[in-house]
Amino acid sequence: MKTLKIALLGAASTVTLAAAAGAQELNLICSADVVICELLVEEFEKAHDIDVNMVRLSSGEAYAKLRAEARNPQTDLWWGGTGDPHLQAASDGLTAEYKSPMLEELQDWAVRQAELSGFKTVGVYSGALGWGYNTEIFDSKGITPPKCWADLLDPSLAGEIQIADPNSSGTAYTTLATLVQLMGEDEAFEFLKKMDANVSQYTKSGSAPVKAAARGETGLGIVFMHDAVAQAEAGFPVQVVAPCEGTGYEIGSMSMVEGAQNEDEAKAFYDWVLGADIQSMMPEAGSYQIPSNANATPPEAAPKLDDIKLIDYDFAQYGDSDRRSGLLSRWDSEVGGQ
Ligand code: F6P
Repeated sequence: MKTLKIALLGAASTVTLAAAAGAQELNLICSADVVICELLVEEFEKAHDIDVNMVRLSSGEAYAKLRAEARNPQTDLWWGGTGDPHLQAASDGLTAEYKSPMLEELQDWAVRQAELSGFKTVGVYSGALGWGYNTEIFDSKGITPPKCWADLLDPSLAGEIQIADPNSSGTAYTTLATLVQLMGEDEAFEFLKKMDANVSQYTKSGSAPVKAAARGETGLGIVFMHDAVAQAEAGFPVQVVAPCEGTGYEIGSMSMVEGAQNEDEAKAFYDWVLGADIQSMMPEAGSYQIPSNANATPPEAAPKLDDIKLIDYDFAQYGDSDRRSGLLSRWDSEVGGQ
């Protein structure tokens, strides 16, 4: 009987090991540009015996997916995307506390993001908001390039502006929160309602507006400046602008999902992707954010945050669940739904 029991246990543990070996996978949401998402997956798979199932979703869409999956998480890790929805996910209990050994290599702003969330998220890169415009379109139409947020209301820009929808896009939510912090909430909504006359399209993804401007489909895209730089670096006639009144910025973030089915694999990716050598690869994929690892090399073409008039963006307030939901409902009823 004893022998039989041992034999059965042996068989069971073999099965368990086999199952575990087959379960070396990671379900990842990636909320930055698809090219860097694909490069990270490729490099991670080369270095680890883990298959990554990656889906690219804009920041707001990723938050909505985690919320929808809360009772039965299908996602293990969420990399990239603006910090506000990561903070909202943390305060909603959708993401899990994790103190990576890599934290000690990170810039203060990346660690502050972790502290703010009780270590349920962490900063992976940062970048400031602005816009990119197509110099050929502006020249041929004789439009004066806008230097300030206020200039975006000029009637010469009718139909020339694209910006994303803040429900799906973290870029557009950062824009909304930035304007509220610069002007006051009612004034910011007045501004957005007026600017609507110049907006031809509210896109789903945050960087789509400047990709459209680069290809001559629109004159100007309100985006993170690094996404405008990416188009200029790719050879398109795009000029990058930091708004004169001051501007907001993102702390692109990463969060482990609460109840993740592949927690060890998620931790392996989490620690690996915070490494200096991995973060230094970003420009190879046309990504020009400032990396969060203090030893990583910032891309030469990355907009220098010290040269830009940045507001003291209140991440605690604008990453708060009620505040973000409230601003998005107001945007739906006063701007998007018009
Ligand atoms: O394209 C890169 C990027 O701008 C990131 O810096 C940012 O976190 C993310 O895209 C935001 O994307 P979205 O606005 O689509 O949520």
